[in-house]
Amino acid sequence: MNRAALSFSIVMVAGCAAPTGTFEAEATSPPSPVRPELTPVIGPSAVMEDTNDDPRVFETTLTARYTTVTLGDGMTYEMMTYDGTVPGPTLHATAGDEVIVHFTNELDEPTTIHWHGLRISDEMDGNPRIQDPVQPGETFTYRFVVPEAGTYWYHPHVRSNEQLERGLYGAIVARDHYDPSYDAERLVVLDDILVDGESELLPPFLASHPEVMHGRFGNVLLTNGRDVTEMESGAAEQGQVERWRIVNTANARTMALSVAGARWRVIGTDGGLLREPYETERLTVPVGQRYEVEVAYDAPGRVELLSHVMTRNASGLLEEIDVPVHAVEVAETGAAPREVVRHLRPERPVREADRMETIVFDVVSDSIRGVQWRLNGVSHPEEPLFTFQQGDTVRILLDNRSGPEHPFHLHGQWFEVVTSESEHAQPGLKDTVLVPGGAVVEILAYLDNPGRWMAHCHILAHAELGMMAEMVVEPSE
Ligand code: C2O
Ligand code: CU
Repeated sequence: MNRAALSFSIVMVAGCAAPTGTFEAEATSPPSPVRPELTPVIGPSAVMEDTNDDPRVFETTLTARYTTVTLGDGMTYEMMTYDGTVPGPTLHATAGDEVIVHFTNELDEPTTIHWHGLRISDEMDGNPRIQDPVQPGETFTYRFVVPEAGTYWYHPHVRSNEQLERGLYGAIVARDHYDPSYDAERLVVLDDILVDGESELLPPFLASHPEVMHGRFGNVLLTNGRDVTEMESGAAEQGQVERWRIVNTANARTMALSVAGARWRVIGTDGGLLREPYETERLTVPVGQRYEVEVAYDAPGRVELLSHVMTRNASGLLEEIDVPVHAVEVAETGAAPREVVRHLRPERPVREADRMETIVFDVVSDSIRGVQWRLNGVSHPEEPLFTFQQGDTVRILLDNRSGPEHPFHLHGQWFEVVTSESEHAQPGLKDTVLVPGGAVVEILAYLDNPGRWMAHCHILAHAELGMMAEMVVEPSE
């Protein structure tokens, strides 16, 4: 079998005379390829500046440093930032572009940058076992070609449970010529943060049993770096259709989301646009994952992205409350509802598994080392979990033998969720999947990108306490 032809490379996707996604209403004449830069993206205000004249090269600088940041009323904290903002500046790029980031570490501890979801070379992936972490005062140049369009994000891979919570994360929007044209795109970067109202410092890390067992849950929800109770609404018009790109950057909190006040459906996931959009009542978004939804403003009024959060009420009982985490005021125009394209992306070839593996997630604890989270019986395994050949298609059973859930993340590759005990459908290519407590989730992994790849739980406390491994993909030649 010709493995190269089966890999989901950008060449294949771009060469496929992709249906240029556009509204059916506009499709009477063949749509011309949309210049991806043209649709405005409304999101975090900071964006990376391109300093390179070559249109196919995006070159910029980025600095990690301490900054005093205001997240909301009475919430001013000494944070770690990329270029002074939380989230860090958004990277806007086009598939096929070369990206060069001259990174400087002005923190007083080492760090790296991981480009979560981008299938790039392992030397640029921020894996501290490959790249010597960037020491205080040092610089490192990250250089890679954006392999395919989608919504991604970046964050450190050293002491990530602290460095992310303290503010080191940012979003990546990668476009391609087949991207459908919407009236606007919104980038919604979700987070939660644990604060104590008294001091300007965040509460200590891994200091409580719940944090060690379930990860660090925040007591404030943030959207684009702002306390959601103080967020400003966006503006749109009846009859418009938008694309919202959602990223969950929290340390541990799985978000249950829905859109109220508009017609909406899921159009994309970790691996970019889906071939077939689908409708759902709720989206379950574990940490690390991205979802894209299409939101059609059929009627005027307020449209909200709701986060369904379990909380304790005054009498101590658990109850679910709906917290708006993003809102748009839709002005009346009388415009009729608009229909949108059905097929967003070309079909992919079907690949059969040529191997089956299992990863067991569990936890042990002893009085000397405390709680240790394990993958296949080892906490912080030194040896790779598996060695694969480039082009392998592998069924992997993710077997969670612990109570807490684990959002499993594999660097540098795509996979699909084949079965899941969760009731939520999960079509599309993924790099992160939620394995609920006690559940077995089966994925089909497409190991097309050679290198040494981290495979870990994205609950950052679990990763820090041992659920952090590697897989090797040997090059085919
Ligand atoms: Cu988003 Cu290995 O991480
Ligand atoms: Cu975990």
